[in-house]
Amino acid sequence: MPITAITGSASGIGAAVAAAMRAAGHQVIGIDRSDAEVIANLSTAQGRNAAIAQVLEQCDGVLDGLICCAGVGVTAPSCSVILAVNYFGVSQLLAGLQGALAKSEQPAALVIGSVAATHSGPDGQPMVEAMLAGDEALALQLADDLAHPHHAYAASKYAVSHYARDLAVSWGKLGVRLNVVAPGAVATPLHQASLEDPRFGQATRDFVAPLGRSGRPDELAAVVAFLQSPQASFVHGSVVFVDGGMDAMVRASRF
Ligand code: NAI
Repeated sequence: MPITAITGSASGIGAAVAAAMRAAGHQVIGIDRSDAEVIANLSTAQGRNAAIAQVLEQCDGVLDGLICCAGVGVTAPSCSVILAVNYFGVSQLLAGLQGALAKSEQPAALVIGSVAATHSGPDGQPMVEAMLAGDEALALQLADDLAHPHHAYAASKYAVSHYARDLAVSWGKLGVRLNVVAPGAVATPLHQASLEDPRFGQATRDFVAPLGRSGRPDELAAVVAFLQSPQASFVHGSVVFVDGGMDAMVRASRF
């Protein structure tokens, strides 16, 4: 039975992805702060290392799939936590589990980004450069200087998508596929917290996709399960928008 590790498996998109992968016949090693096979805090290097060690133990050193869903939104306690979980909680896990993935026969990894990655041109920002250089202390310090958590969120998702696409070039030679799924608004506890927040509620309500509704976690999970399956064997380094048309609405000429 193939083994897939999934971060953020206790809630929202990660929980739906875990159910879809189980339905596809995978053993799932869920990683989350509670209600998971591996309990870990991905906002710290220590927590990420503990997660990697436990996954390697539970999969016996050979991992068929890794899906990084864990993330925090604009209502997170600080901008630095947003970067710590959304960027470093992904990059450190991908690096730490690369060897175990490379030992599988048909390995595939996937990062949940966001349509927000395309907002506000974070390319070249010092904070983004610090993330991509792996300088967590500097990136987190720069994040806490930001005025608006949305800038931290968008930059974390831009940087993690950029990181994954860079990595796809070297991972291709190892035979490990790696893709990014960029959701638009999806009805989960994270999205609900933004809707209920007095600072972000109105803007969240106003940002409506052409399909006129939010997505459901299972609609994301279906695409993730396909990308992780052998049917997607030539899909590598792609950013797949699953956003009800939001990206097309905002920047039709960019693809
Ligand atoms: P959610 O809040 O329902 O689930 C996130 C999961 O990540 C939770 O189980 C939580 O415990 C876990 N997590 C958060 N911080 C953690 C930490 N420090 N250590 C370990 N686990 C941690 O949120 P949702 O919406 O399912 O989010 C999943 C991913 O989708 C996130 O990366 C989010 O940024 C992304 N996304 C969500 C959108 C939405 O509208 N819901 C839109 C675009 C992207």
